[in-house]
Amino acid sequence: MRRQEMCLLLGVLLAAFLGEAGAVTCFAGNNSFPLCTTCSGQCVDTVGCYCTEDAIIPCLPTFACNPDTTQCCPDNFFWFTNVTCCSEVLNCEPACSDDEVCTSQAGYAVCECNPATYLHANRSDITATSECESSAMTVSFSKCLLQRFKYNMSDMYTSDTTCTVTTYEDVIENKSVVKAQVLTLNGWCGNQMTINSNDKKVTYSNALYVPPDTSDGLVISNTLRVNFSCTYNLTMQTSLQTVLYPNIGTVTLPSVNNSGDITATMAAYMSNSFTDPYSVGDTLTVGNPLYIGISTTFTDADKFTLRADKCVASPNNSPSQGGVVLISSGCPVTDDVDVQILHNGDSLEVMFQIETFAFQDQSEVYMSCDVSLCPITTPNTCKCSSARLAVRDTVTIQMSPIGVSASFDISSGSHTDVSLWALLGSSLLALLSLRMI
Ligand SMILES: *[C@@H]1O[C@H](CO)[C@@H](O)[C@H](O)[C@H]1NC(C)=O
Ligand SMILES: *[C@@H]1O[C@H](CO)[C@@H](O)[C@H](O)[C@H]1NC(C)=O
Ligand SMILES: *[C@@H]1O[C@H](CO)[C@@H](O)[C@H](O)[C@H]1NC(C)=O
Ligand SMILES: *[C@@H]1O[C@H](CO)[C@@H](O)[C@H](O)[C@H]1NC(C)=O
Ligand SMILES: *[C@@H]1O[C@H](CO)[C@@H](O)[C@H](O)[C@H]1NC(C)=O
Ligand SMILES: *[C@@H]1O[C@H](CO)[C@@H](O)[C@H](O)[C@H]1NC(C)=O
Ligand SMILES: *[C@@H]1O[C@H](CO)[C@@H](O)[C@H](O)[C@H]1NC(C)=O
Ligand SMILES: *[C@@H]1O[C@H](CO)[C@@H](O)[C@H](O)[C@H]1NC(C)=O
Repeated sequence: MRRQEMCLLLGVLLAAFLGEAGAVTCFAGNNSFPLCTTCSGQCVDTVGCYCTEDAIIPCLPTFACNPDTTQCCPDNFFWFTNVTCCSEVLNCEPACSDDEVCTSQAGYAVCECNPATYLHANRSDITATSECESSAMTVSFSKCLLQRFKYNMSDMYTSDTTCTVTTYEDVIENKSVVKAQVLTLNGWCGNQMTINSNDKKVTYSNALYVPPDTSDGLVISNTLRVNFSCTYNLTMQTSLQTVLYPNIGTVTLPSVNNSGDITATMAAYMSNSFTDPYSVGDTLTVGNPLYIGISTTFTDADKFTLRADKCVASPNNSPSQGGVVLISSGCPVTDDVDVQILHNGDSLEVMFQIETFAFQDQSEVYMSCDVSLCPITTPNTCKCSSARLAVRDTVTIQMSPIGVSASFDISSGSHTDVSLWALLGSSLLALLSLRMI
C-alpha cells in the first residue's frame, strides 16, 4: 500500500514538475488590456479582438481565435493556441523553421533568419533545387542563405529580363526557402523548348537571375545566375512541333471565366501514343488504324473537360453536305466505320481511333469535330450519353484533308487499287444514302 501511495505521490509530483516546465503564463488582463470575456469583446479575422462597447480598446481572447492567429492578441502579447490565451511570452505560430528565430517586430511575432545559422557559409553553399510539375517549373533557394549574401529575392527575373517571376516562401525539410515559379510554356518568360524526337522528350530550359540587394549602397554579391530545365514526355500538343507541317485544325473556343483565348487543336496521329503526328500530304492506307486527338490550351482540368459532341468524316470540306458520322452526342457511331473512343469528355484531351477508309473516287477524307469545354457539374454528363443535353457552345474544327490510298499489297506485291476502291466506295455510298446528314 505504502509503495503504491509513494508511486502515486511521485507521479503527481512529476506531472506537476513537467506541467511547470511547459507552462505558459497567460496574461490575466488588467485595465488597459481587459480579457474579452470581461468586456463582451469579439475577434474579427485579420482585424483583431476588441471590446464591444468601445471598439478602440483591444481585448485578450480566452476562446478559439481567428484562423490566422497573428491578430489575436494586442501588440506585445502573443497567442498560444495550445492554451487558448495571450501571453507576454514571445511565440510564433506556426513554429519557425530550423534556420529562423522567432522575434518581435513592432509587437508582432515574426520568424526571421537566424544570422548564426549561415554565419560561416560561403557562396558555393547556395544551391538551387528544381521541381518539374506538369504545368510549372519551380526553383527553390534557401531563403536565409540568399539573405546572408544580401540578394534581393523579391526581384528575381529570367532570361527574358522583362519578366518578373512570381516568388513565394515555403518550408522544406524544416528550412525556409524561397521559390520561383515559371510556367511550362514555350517562350514564356524566355523559356526555350527543345524536342528530342528519338526519345520522345521535350525539354524546357531557362535561367533565373537573383540580383543583389543594393538598398544600403553596399553590394557584396554579383547577380546570381542559375540555369534550370525540366524534361517531359512529349504530349499530343507538344509532339506537333516534331514535324514541320503537322496535319492540324485549330479553332478558338469561347472564353470561360475570362480565361482569355482558348484554342483547341485536332490532329491525326500514327499510333495510340498520340505523339507521332501525320504531316500534311501524308497518305494513309485504307484499313489501317488512324488516331485522332484533340487538345486544348485551356488548363483547368478540375472544372472542365474537352468534349467532342459530333465528328464527321466527309468527302469534301462541307461536312453538312454528307459524310459518315463517327461520333454523335459524344458516343461512337460504329455502323459504317469502326470507331473506338479512348477519351472524350473525361479530361482535357479527346482521343479516338478509327479504321482508315476512303470515299469512292476520292483520294482525300475531310475530318471535322464539334467540340466544347464541358463544365464538370455532375459526373458523366460530359461523356458519351444518350440523354439529351442542353445545346452546347460547340465550335467546329476541321483538319487539312487526309490523303487516303486504297492500294494494298496482295502477297505477290501487285496492286488492286480499282477493285478495293470500288468495294469500299459502294458500301459506304450505300450507307451514306440511307443516312444523309
Ligand atoms: C504550449 O506551446 C508552447 C510553445 O508553443 C510550449 O512552450 C508550452 O509548453 C505549451 N504548453 C502546453 C501546456 O502544452
Ligand atoms: C497592463 O499590463 C501591461 C503589460 O504587462 C502593462 O504594460 C500595463 O502598464 C498594465 N496596465 C495597467 C493599467 O496596469
Ligand atoms: C523545425 O525546427 C524547429 C526548431 O528546431 C522545431 O521547433 C520544429 O518542431 C521543427 N518542425 C518540424 C516540422 O520538424
Ligand atoms: C564552402 O563551404 C563548404 C562547407 O560548407 C566547404 O566544403 C567548401 O570547401 C567551401 N568552399 C569554399 C570555396 O570556401
Ligand atoms: C528589391 O527589388 C525591388 C524591385 O526592384 C525593390 O523595390 C526593393 O526595394 C528591393 N529590395 C531590396 C531589399 O533591395
Ligand atoms: C548557363 O547556361 C549558359 C548558356 O546557356 C552558359 O553559358 C552558362 O555557363 C551556364 N551556367 C551555369 C552555371 O551552368
Ligand atoms: C513517359 O513515357 C514513358 C515511356 O513512354 C513512361 O514509361 C512514363 O510513365 C512516362 N512518364 C510520365 C510522367 O508520363
Ligand atoms: C468562375 O470563377 C469564379 C470565381 O473565380 C468561380 O467561383 C466559378 O466557379 C468559376 N466558374 C467556372 C464555371 O469555373
